[in-house]
Amino acid sequence: MSNDAGALDDLLHEERRFPPPEGFAEGAVMSDPGVWAEAAEDREAYWASWAAELDWFQPWSRVLEWTPPHAQWFTGGTLNVSYNCLDRHVEAGRGDRPALIWEGEPGDTRTYSYAELLDEVSRFANALKGLGVERGDRVTIYLPMIPEATIAMLACTRIGAIHSVVFGGFSPDSLSDRNNDAEAKVLITADGGWRRGGVVALKANADIALEDSPTVESVVVVARGGALTEQTPVDMADGRDHWYHDLVAAADAECPPEKMDAEDTLFILYTSGTTGKPKGVVHTTGGYLTQVYATTKAVFDLRDDDVYWCTADVGWITGHSYIVYGPLANCAQVVMYEGAPDAPDRGRFWQLCEKYGVTIFYTAPTAIRAFMRWGESWPQSYDLSKLRVLGTVGEPINPEAWMWYHEVIGGERCPIVDTWWQTETGGAMITPLPALTTTKPGTATRPFPGIDVAILDNDGDPTHSGYLAITSPWPSMLRTIWGDDERYRRTYWSKWDGLYFPGDGAKLDADDYVWILGRVDDVLNVAGHRIGTAEVESALVDHPAVVESAVVGKSHEIKGESIASFVTLKEGIDATDDLMSELRDHVGHKIGAIAKPEVVVFTAELPKTRSGKIMRRLLRDIAEGRTVGDTTTLADPAVVKRLQELHEADEG
Ligand code: WTA
Repeated sequence: MSNDAGALDDLLHEERRFPPPEGFAEGAVMSDPGVWAEAAEDREAYWASWAAELDWFQPWSRVLEWTPPHAQWFTGGTLNVSYNCLDRHVEAGRGDRPALIWEGEPGDTRTYSYAELLDEVSRFANALKGLGVERGDRVTIYLPMIPEATIAMLACTRIGAIHSVVFGGFSPDSLSDRNNDAEAKVLITADGGWRRGGVVALKANADIALEDSPTVESVVVVARGGALTEQTPVDMADGRDHWYHDLVAAADAECPPEKMDAEDTLFILYTSGTTGKPKGVVHTTGGYLTQVYATTKAVFDLRDDDVYWCTADVGWITGHSYIVYGPLANCAQVVMYEGAPDAPDRGRFWQLCEKYGVTIFYTAPTAIRAFMRWGESWPQSYDLSKLRVLGTVGEPINPEAWMWYHEVIGGERCPIVDTWWQTETGGAMITPLPALTTTKPGTATRPFPGIDVAILDNDGDPTHSGYLAITSPWPSMLRTIWGDDERYRRTYWSKWDGLYFPGDGAKLDADDYVWILGRVDDVLNVAGHRIGTAEVESALVDHPAVVESAVVGKSHEIKGESIASFVTLKEGIDATDDLMSELRDHVGHKIGAIAKPEVVVFTAELPKTRSGKIMRRLLRDIAEGRTVGDTTTLADPAVVKRLQELHEADEG
C-alpha cells in the first residue's frame, strides 16, 4: 500500500471541509441531493435513463442480465459509438462546433469541428475497410497524442473493429506481445511524436515489434515527426506499410456506421496485473458508452460553454473514457495536447489553459506534485480565471497536493473531483458531484449514483478498514479478459462470492466517505501508471547476468511510488555500476522507460521463507528504510541485515 497505516489515521482526522461554492448549483447538471437515493431505489431504471440520452438504432429489451461474474447491459439494443460521438451532433445542427482543439508540442495547432471530425473518421474508416478490416477484427493503435489517435479509435468503432491502444512509451516487446495476444490485423502508428523538444521515433519501434507480430498484415503510418522532411526517416515496407495521408485522401467520405450490439466488444486495453503477462481488459459498447457519457457530464458538470481538458494519454483508460468517448458523446469542446508539461517551459499547461479558455481541467496527483515543486510563479503568470472544475485521477491524492491544487490552480473557487476508478471499471466509480458533495482533501468521497461499493474484510464482512469491493454490476464494467475468462474469474471474482475485488485497500470515515489506501496486490502505481512487480522481475531475469530478482514499491515524493529491485547475479559475475545501469536499460527495453527500477540492489541472496517464498514485506521495509518486521519465518534471518547494509550503501 502506498500510504502506511499511521499516515492514514491522520488523514481520517482531516477537519477541512469544502462545500460546493456558493451559486455553483445553479444550472448544474446534477443539483438534486436525492439523486443517490433515487438511483439506489431502482438502479437499472437509473442507468436506463442515462442510456436513453444516447442514440440507439434499436432500443434494448433488457437493462441488465447478471449471471455472476458476467453482466450484459442493454441487451437487444444496437448502437454505434462513432455515430453517438459525431453524427448525432452534426445532425442536430452542431457540425461547426469545435470538437477537437489540438496543440502540438512545438506549438502547431489543428482544430476539427464535429463535421470535420466526422468527415475524417469516415474516410479513415473506409481506408481501414480497404485494408480488409472487418467487424470484430483487432487493430492496434500505437500513436503519440495527435488527432489521428482519436480519429483512429473512432474509425474502428464506426466499422465495428476492436481497437487495442498501446501507450507510445511501451517498448517493441510490449507492442508485439499485445499484437500477438489480440491477433491484430492492422497496426496504426506514426513516424514519431514530439516530447521535450525531440521526436520519439515510433515507427522504428514498431518495425522491431513487427518482426515478431505475424498476424499484422498492414501498417498505417501517420507523418507527424517530420518523416516527410527527412527529419525522422522511416522505412516503409512495400505492400505492407501505407501513409495515413495517402489512404485518407483516396478514401470516400461516406461510411455508414455499423449497427453494433450493445454487448459487442468495443475495445481491448492491456493493463498490468500480478503476473508477468498483462491482461487484455475487454469493454463492450452500450454499457461502456452509457457510463462514460453519464460520468463525464455529471462528474465534471459539463455545460455547453465549457472547454474541457484532460491531460492523460490516450494510451491509458483515462484517455479512452475522458478524452475521447465521454466528452465527444457529450458534444464537448475537447482540448488535446501532444507533449510534456515542461516544454518549452514549466508554464506550458497554464499557458494552454489561458490560450484556450479551459474551464474544466482533469489531471493526475503526480503531475500536481510536480507543479508544486516547480513553484507557484508558473501558474501565477497566466490567467486561470476561467477554470471552474478541477479533477484528479490515478492514485490517492495527498491532502497537501489537494490544497495546493485548490488554492493555486483553482483560486479557491473550483470544486475538486477526486475520481476513483480503474481500467477495469471503464468509468468513474467513486467521486464527488461538484454541485452536491462537500469534499475533504484526500478522499474520493462517495460512489456515483447507481454504483454500490463496500469495505470488507477477508471473509466478506463489512468493516471500516479493509478491502474495497464493488457489490453490484455496473454498466461500464469489464466483461472478461481477452482470451482468458478463467483469469477474469480468478483475478476479480474469487475473493468473495459474486463481488468484484478491485485490488485496492480502503477505509470508511464517519461520514461514510471512502479513503483509498492504494493497491494491496503486487501492482505498483508509478506516476499514476500501473506496473506489475512480476513484469519487472521477468524483465530482469531475462538478462543473462541475473539469476533471481524481487521488485517492490518504494514511496516517492513526486511519483507516489518508485520501483526498487533486488537482484541476485550468476556465479562469477561482478556487481558493477555499469551492470546496474545495463539492467535498468534492459527493463526499459523489455517493457518501456516507465518500468525502469530507480534502485537496483545486488545481493547474494533474497529473504525467503523456509518454503522458498520471497518475503516482499521485508523487502518493502528495507527499501523504505523502515524497521524490519517479523523475520522469524525466514530461512536465514541474517539475510535481512546484509540487505539493509547493501541498501544503505546504495542510497548513500
Ligand atoms: C488507483 C486509472 C486513489 C487505484 C483510472 C486503482 C486511485 C488504480 C484513484 C487504477 C483515486 C485511481 N484515488 N487511487 N482517485 N484513481 N487510483 O487502471 O489503485 O490505470 O486500482 O486506472 O489506480 O489504475 P488504472
